[in-house]
Amino acid sequence: MFLGPDKRANGRASESISLAWEPSHLSVSRAIVKQDPRKSFCFPPGVRRVFPARPARYNPRTTMKIVITADLHYDILRSREPARRAAEILCRAGGDALVLAGDTAGADLDRLREALTLFADFPGRKLMVPGNHCLWCAGDENSLDRYERVLPALAEECGFSVLDFHPVQLGAVGLAGSIGWYDYSFRDESLGIPLPFYAAKVAPGAAAYYQEYAELIDEHRDRLNDEHLEISSRWMDGVRVSLGMSDEQFARRVEDRLAGQLADLAPRVEKIVAVVHHLPFVELVPQGRPPRFAFAAAFMGARRLGEVLLACPKVTHVYCGHSHWPDRRTVGHIQAVNIGSTYTEKRWETLEL
Ligand SMILES: [Fe+2]
Ligand SMILES: [Fe+2]
Repeated sequence: MFLGPDKRANGRASESISLAWEPSHLSVSRAIVKQDPRKSFCFPPGVRRVFPARPARYNPRTTMKIVITADLHYDILRSREPARRAAEILCRAGGDALVLAGDTAGADLDRLREALTLFADFPGRKLMVPGNHCLWCAGDENSLDRYERVLPALAEECGFSVLDFHPVQLGAVGLAGSIGWYDYSFRDESLGIPLPFYAAKVAPGAAAYYQEYAELIDEHRDRLNDEHLEISSRWMDGVRVSLGMSDEQFARRVEDRLAGQLADLAPRVEKIVAVVHHLPFVELVPQGRPPRFAFAAAFMGARRLGEVLLACPKVTHVYCGHSHWPDRRTVGHIQAVNIGSTYTEKRWETLEL
């Protein structure tokens, strides 16, 4: 996600946040099915499923099968082959609906089109929510226009619809969705970094390096200490996303739209499955990270996103992506799952209701 310059601030490189959120070097507490290409029932290398497969009790006449994956990042070279292999498997497996939970590709719309075309043979409904990477822009482009006009049109061209704008009813099951966004409510308060640094999406150590943030540093110099200046990371949405409004405003806008979807679906269905890109619950934010990575917690999601979901008793399951960190929690009456695809290992979950 972060492709910062290979320069040094005060002798330290301004560095990637997102790569460090990837758990490839860490053990995950739950079982992950590792693939062995020599065994026909296994997935190929680079494709993993978050949780063990359920027993074969799927009855197509009575069961709704919804497949959710996330963070295919098809614009990133090392992500491309694992994404292709995952798509092949998911198309073969089929289901009533497939949902891509964001960050399918980045600024290059042709790559997004290619990624969606990988699912041409999927036999059920094809749905997606955009991720923050899908809102990355170049030049005069506007992320809000991308989100509300360009992406839905491109998705439709490829046989998908964007859940943010078109919630779906499949029998007694409703599917709602949103990109979600962040409002810094998940920020790690223990770091003591002043809020304006989060709004600028730059940690003090990186801000001290870049001339464009000289004013920000000057304004808050009295509140910064050496430890703050050791934190030299940036969140690249600050450079690549242009919404024309604050993050808090955009977060509220998409949360309100999701609340409207839930209010609309609830009287008509027995259960609602929600898919969001950003994290709806702070419980899903990776904990115990070093400060340079803990800075990124602010950009993981928003408390109000979870509150909107919890306010609807019909929401039984929520799926998200974004952190590249697989996790599963029960929050209130909701089963919350982070799919946890990384750049090199794609994961998915099949939900049968
Ligand atoms: Fe991602
Ligand atoms: Fe993301």
